[in-house]
Amino acid sequence: MVQRTFSIIKPDAVNRNLIGEITARLEKSGLSVIASKMLHLTTEQAAGFYAEHEGKPFYETLITNMTAGSIIVQVLEGEDAVAKNREVMGTTDPEKAAPGTIRKDFAVSMQKNSVHGSDSPESAAREIAYFFNENEIYPR
Ligand code: CMP
Repeated sequence: MVQRTFSIIKPDAVNRNLIGEITARLEKSGLSVIASKMLHLTTEQAAGFYAEHEGKPFYETLITNMTAGSIIVQVLEGEDAVAKNREVMGTTDPEKAAPGTIRKDFAVSMQKNSVHGSDSPESAAREIAYFFNENEIYPR
């Protein structure tokens, strides 16, 4: 089923000039970038996006890291896009991520793990709407 998902290239990756390499891996997996922009999140924007994690031990560091530099937000479209993106990203902890995944190859730590991807179609819809208007999305 053709689906949409939402992706963030995080500040740790943008700061190391990995935008192109990460996007190439997403595209090579069969996903198409149908929306893309660069942002520098405010604390309020980051807190709204990650509201479900408020109160968790890693929350404060997460907000600090996500506001430490620019990010790229993208909408990806393709067959089973949510699962495919998660497969290409690898698991949250880069040390446990499978060989050849983005996080295995580029992430620095659990907190600086280079990318975010939606964990379900429902999260994808919410996350896409958080950053994009429908008229900023360009399906093939
Ligand atoms: P992300 O997919 O952006 O969603 C929440 C982020 O919190 C996650 O990636 C990690 O960068 C960070 N994080 C740090 N520690 C944890 C943890 N124990 N479990 C989940 N996420 C964590």
